[in-house]
Amino acid sequence: MKKVTAFVGSAHKRMTHSAVRQFLDDLQSLGDVESEIVTLSDYRLGTCRGCRLCFDKGEEACPLKDDRDVLIEKMMTSDGVVFASPNYSFQVSALMKMFLDRLGFAFHRPRFFGKTFTSIVTQGIYRGGQIVKYLDFVGFGLGFNTVKGTCFTAFDPMTEKEKEKRDRALAGQSRRFYERMTKPAYPVPSLIRLMGFRMGRTSIRLELDDRRRDYTHYREKGWFESDYYYAVRLGALKKLAGRLFDSIQTRKSRKRKSLK
Ligand SMILES: Cc1cc2nc3c(=O)[nH]c(=O)nc-3n(C[C@H](O)[C@H](O)[C@H](O)COP(=O)(O)O)c2cc1C
Repeated sequence: MKKVTAFVGSAHKRMTHSAVRQFLDDLQSLGDVESEIVTLSDYRLGTCRGCRLCFDKGEEACPLKDDRDVLIEKMMTSDGVVFASPNYSFQVSALMKMFLDRLGFAFHRPRFFGKTFTSIVTQGIYRGGQIVKYLDFVGFGLGFNTVKGTCFTAFDPMTEKEKEKRDRALAGQSRRFYERMTKPAYPVPSLIRLMGFRMGRTSIRLELDDRRRDYTHYREKGWFESDYYYAVRLGALKKLAGRLFDSIQTRKSRKRKSLK
């Protein structure tokens, strides 16, 4: 049984909710899948004040007392996660953005490895493709295995033709998502993922110290010594590339430190 949770950044049950419902129904027809739709407006989400305590001291030091940890727990106990948002003023909705800001520390200390992610965006006219790219990058940054998201253009109510087109795209997306979810959960990282990890960890090791949570987190996880976030066998080429990324960042970090 796979558990999939969709986080919806729209306060009512119209276009975005309906696309997510269709996606989850499609998924359930493919295999043993249990699903939940989390409407973000049903949860308390504070506005990030930018104090950086989550980065420096740890997420438990955040002064906001809201449902952040309830939502994170839902992600941690899922095999698959969907972020869905309407296009509001050429971006995700404010609701979705508040949720993403509450996860800011998890981009520094990613934790959703082995889980599958995708995004769904609905819009009336234009520019939702950029929002899909943004949300897919968010999934990547949080550590998920990402499946390319989709954007749907239609006014409410949809015409039959628009609905057919949307449902065809959602059927393909759910199939790709299901396949990704049933493949090995901890794949060998792509070069870009490897670069992100090696350069990030090298800069944390050289530019921070044990007064910062990012530093102690990486140290406790063994990430200063490991090949990647999780145990994986890298081929000779990727081993070499990993060492190269470490050394490029070492030079950059030393230079940055010498200029301080
Ligand atoms: C405040 C607001 C801003 C919007 N901005 C855009 C926009 O910039 N581009 C666009 O294509 N559609 C825009 N729309 C249309 C919505 O993206 C579209 O109707 C969407 O399907 C709504 O999803 P929902 O029913 O789940 O809220 C906007 C709608 C609202 C209410």
